[in-house]
Amino acid sequence: MTIDLFPMDTAKFVAAKQATHYVQSGMKVGLGTGSTAAWLVQCLGEMVRDHGLQIKGVPTSNRTAELARAAGIEIITLDQAKWLDLTIDGTDEYDANLNLIKGGGGAHLREKIVATASDRMIVIADASKTVATLGAFPLPVEVLPFGMQITRGLIEELLVGVDVLGRDVIQRMQGDAPYVTDEGNFILDLHLKSIGNPRQLAMMLNQIPGVVENGLFIDICDVVIVGHGTGKVEI
Ligand code: 5RP
Repeated sequence: MTIDLFPMDTAKFVAAKQATHYVQSGMKVGLGTGSTAAWLVQCLGEMVRDHGLQIKGVPTSNRTAELARAAGIEIITLDQAKWLDLTIDGTDEYDANLNLIKGGGGAHLREKIVATASDRMIVIADASKTVATLGAFPLPVEVLPFGMQITRGLIEELLVGVDVLGRDVIQRMQGDAPYVTDEGNFILDLHLKSIGNPRQLAMMLNQIPGVVENGLFIDICDVVIVGHGTGKVEI
């Protein structure tokens, strides 16, 4: 692949390229969503087409499924796969404990299901995604459309009692209409600025009826591969 990229794209590309070293023929691989994961799909597609790599991919979104098909990667469902050797995905933030905020692309529900059904989750990121404390990136929470305002109110009540610095809850929109996920749900973005106890918050959010899944990935990620605009990669 010949590349002439802006530094941010270089960073994403080199992280994705490095992650392909973990992929071997015969593996079932979870394919993440987002611009960094899109580079991964391109790299894996090239290995399938030109180097005989044989993998089955489980995409984490309809967008990734389209990209993977176009790249020549065989797609199967998670239930057909039963279990995955690894999942490779991007992130919006990661901390020193490899805990993540994901869902900027609205796919964190399927991403969490797929990553949890994998022997390993490898995250690919540019260096801007590293944080000392999670929460500068708004935390996505996927909620059922049914009774959404009730669910939102319960989330706002919950936030009063937890260790966060911001408490704004904003429904994600696409133009004038609510953003709708691949599963037909809405997303509330929680502007928390700083999350003191991500593990506790993740558990508390998921206890609210109407919350489908939050974007905190706690103890799921095994490795973060960080790409830099210079082309340098760190693991
Ligand atoms: C999608 C995600 C993405 O992995 C996350 O938003 C990172 O995206 P990008 O690689 O484009 O920065 O969680 O739901």
